[in-house]
Amino acid sequence: MSGYVDILVGQGVEWGLLGPREPERIWSRHIMNCAALLEVIGEGVDVLDVGSGAGLPGLVIAIARPDLNVTLLEPLLRRFNFLEEAVDELGLDGQVLVERGRAEDLKQHFDVVTCRAVARLPKLLGWTMPLFLPDGELLALKGESIDEELADSADIIARNGLSAQVMQVRATPEVDVAHILRVQAG
Ligand SMILES: C[S@@+](CC[C@H](N)C(=O)[O-])C[C@H]1O[C@@H](n2cnc3c(N)ncnc32)[C@H](O)[C@@H]1O
Repeated sequence: MSGYVDILVGQGVEWGLLGPREPERIWSRHIMNCAALLEVIGEGVDVLDVGSGAGLPGLVIAIARPDLNVTLLEPLLRRFNFLEEAVDELGLDGQVLVERGRAEDLKQHFDVVTCRAVARLPKLLGWTMPLFLPDGELLALKGESIDEELADSADIIARNGLSAQVMQVRATPEVDVAHILRVQAG
């Protein structure tokens, strides 16, 4: 993981993918927040990380869980190029695929769709439901607005027969709790 962190705080900041204040809190605010997903993803599944940006959470997941096949989806060219270089430098080519595009245009199925800071839940569900239904799940890292977003999504959740569960997870005892929203059929 430290090789990826070096890339994030170096090239990630240089390329403007990460703000200048982020390096000092890269572990507490970014890596450990994403690491909360590690214990809730099943064994050996195909994962799509939507709106991967600089690889959060997709690259954290791939590095920590070599059993998973991970696709990083990112529409913006500079971020896509960054991800391709990072995957190459970290030697993850056999495990991680980088695709340039938008979630709503993708026509593939995944066991797990992850995302962090991409869109509010109603929009996110509209984009990602076709990618994980009927037998997969969405695992979205969310902030304090999670309850409000769920309330705003009540219609779409009911209409599509989905169930939604909020999990509070700490990757390690000393870090802030991460709010993970799990959405599945039924
Ligand atoms: C705020 S950034 C978050 C990046 C990263 N997930 C993180 O937590 O640092 C949002 C990312 O979502 C991407 N994005 C926006 N709309 C998207 C869409 N429709 N499909 C896939 N990615 C999208 C943006 O290009 C951007 O990289």
